[in-house]
Amino acid sequence: MSGPDLVDSVAALRARIRDWRRDGLRVAMVPTMGALHEGHLSLIRIAREKAERCVVSIFVNPTQFAPSEDLDKYPRQLARDLDMLATVKADLAFTPTVGAMYPAGFATKISVGGPSAGLESDFRPTFFEGVATVVAKLFLQATPDYAVFGEKDYQQLCVVRQLCHDLDLPIEIIGAPTIRDAQGLAMSSRNAYLGEAELQTARQLNLILRRTAAALVSGVHRDDATGEASRALIAAGFQTVDYVEARESLTLAPWRRDRAGRLLAAAWLGKTRLIDNVEIPTS
Ligand code: PAJ
Repeated sequence: MSGPDLVDSVAALRARIRDWRRDGLRVAMVPTMGALHEGHLSLIRIAREKAERCVVSIFVNPTQFAPSEDLDKYPRQLARDLDMLATVKADLAFTPTVGAMYPAGFATKISVGGPSAGLESDFRPTFFEGVATVVAKLFLQATPDYAVFGEKDYQQLCVVRQLCHDLDLPIEIIGAPTIRDAQGLAMSSRNAYLGEAELQTARQLNLILRRTAAALVSGVHRDDATGEASRALIAAGFQTVDYVEARESLTLAPWRRDRAGRLLAAAWLGKTRLIDNVEIPTS
């Protein structure tokens, strides 16, 4: 099975995309930080259904990690990633160096308002600036017609939509459902940090969120339901709950009963921070 072509410079990326465009082919992009798993592959399958060509970026973006976070520890496994990309027939892997993305003197930050307020930003205040800046760069480098992002990182998906809307980027953002293991745990590169006992606890996160979403739909007050969810997470073995919040699906404003909603949570298991979210169906 032949793998994707590999480019690591913006010039080479642009040349390949220019060739595709000359042939009238549409381009879909899937930005990733590597350590690929089934969740990432599902995005690439969607990308390939949308467009004739698919480019996957693999770049562990330092600007979205705070100094205390796991940048150095973040799993890097390019050879394995390329083998996985071959299985889903990605056309091109873009693997820029940190120096190519952020050369000496780099001094621009993109700050998106709206959906970036609260939730992750309360605990990772510079995270979305880092994400928005790198995603904007990737979009301007690759100029895709489509880009696919996972609902697993639901707030990130909303921030990327806002970025494209506000900057008139002519890219259709496609949200893809979260891929989970058989017991409901959302696949994540950070699951590799978890031991067997922690994995058992981690699997409670989705269960508790689904139970809480059902309670919300059945009429339990928002604050009572999310408070109960936090207590249940601690009882299940999580040490700290950063947040459990019900928000409106599109704007991420506080959820109101008559609106389509999303229940989002982040909690710590040992040194690993897990996030997940589920839909709150309209009753
Ligand atoms: P990363 O964590 O590698 O995720 C890349 C993409 O895969 C994101 O859109 C994420 O939501 C999606 N994804 C991760 N786990 C998933 C799962 N279980 N099911 C479905 N999709 C899943 O998110 C990032 O990288 C970075 O912030 C990035 C956007 C690349 C910017 O640096």
